[in-house]
Amino acid sequence: EKAGYKHFMAKEIAEQPVVIADALKHYTTAEGTLRLPEGVDFTGVDRITMVACGTASYACHVAKYWFEQIAGLPAEIDVASEFRYREPPLSPASWALFVSQSGETADTLAALRYANGKVARVVSVVNVPTSSIARESDLALPILAGVEIGVASTKAFTCQLTVLALLALKAAHDRGRIDDVALAAHLDALRNLPGLMNHALSLSTPIAAIADDLAKAQDILFLGRGAMYPLALEGALKLKEISYIHAEGYASGELKHGPIALIDAAVPVIVMAPRDGLFDKTVSNMQEVMARHGKVLLISDAHGVAEAGAGAWKTLTLPDMPPVFAPILYAIPAQLLAYHTAIAKGTDVDQPRNLAKSVTVE
Ligand code: M6R
Repeated sequence: EKAGYKHFMAKEIAEQPVVIADALKHYTTAEGTLRLPEGVDFTGVDRITMVACGTASYACHVAKYWFEQIAGLPAEIDVASEFRYREPPLSPASWALFVSQSGETADTLAALRYANGKVARVVSVVNVPTSSIARESDLALPILAGVEIGVASTKAFTCQLTVLALLALKAAHDRGRIDDVALAAHLDALRNLPGLMNHALSLSTPIAAIADDLAKAQDILFLGRGAMYPLALEGALKLKEISYIHAEGYASGELKHGPIALIDAAVPVIVMAPRDGLFDKTVSNMQEVMARHGKVLLISDAHGVAEAGAGAWKTLTLPDMPPVFAPILYAIPAQLLAYHTAIAKGTDVDQPRNLAKSVTVE
């Protein structure tokens, strides 16, 4: 049941520190090593192709940055409905990885069946270990999020990201990109996440105040760079799915290739920018928005807000963390913004119109 929360979505957002800690406990040791099933060995793997739908596809999109940047492993992503009919050539030395909360999404299952027999290993990252996708994989890794009821995926997304981060670290270690010490340091950073997520959850009240204004908008843009780009996509999906406000996520650098034409004083622009190596570039895109009177909400850490928050419509300050895993933390304000905007609009948060929790037809 809802355990005192008004909606399943609120309960599931709040559960994230606990379920992430559980997943980390399951897949790592206290000594700072990984505890993944034996079959998770990236030696000789030449590429990873990740396929999913919706929010799960954005988890893959974040993981693409991790596999490439931490492990130096070429990584491809696609949405399952395109992948299955595109019929891409797959390397026999590659892995195909399918991510699905339900494990029953029709397009993802069909994509898995296409890859079966063409790659070295079919791996899935699922929440339901008895699901079709789990059963038809060579190896299924449960994300251990617990039952997710809200149609808008929240805790499954951050648990998917956590398991994918561990896989990328395993790949980096197997490929000699990181040693034991670096691995332990990365795992330490992940272990700090639940505490940081609690901090992010404590921003619910200021986020609700911002959402009261967002609820009046007709269009909202989300911007991010690097691994925060898929978070911009996820923030926009979450918002449109439950508040019915038109929202789009863009890579910040794409702004001047079209979407900047939309900007005026009525368009809120949500910029997700931890203070990473791309921060200055994102800030300059943000300033272009402000110069056109766009209402910027900057989500960053204290340093980032101090440096670039002047002139923004609103700011939200998240705790500091190593930027590489920041997408897991920044999911929380994205979810809370969508949730509170939907509340302000009075929509059905847990069961939005036209949507099903599990899409078992294509
Ligand atoms: O069960 P799955 O993870 O395969 O579902 C994929 C999408 O249908 C799902 O993530 C959808 O986009 C959510 N409603 C987003 O919140």
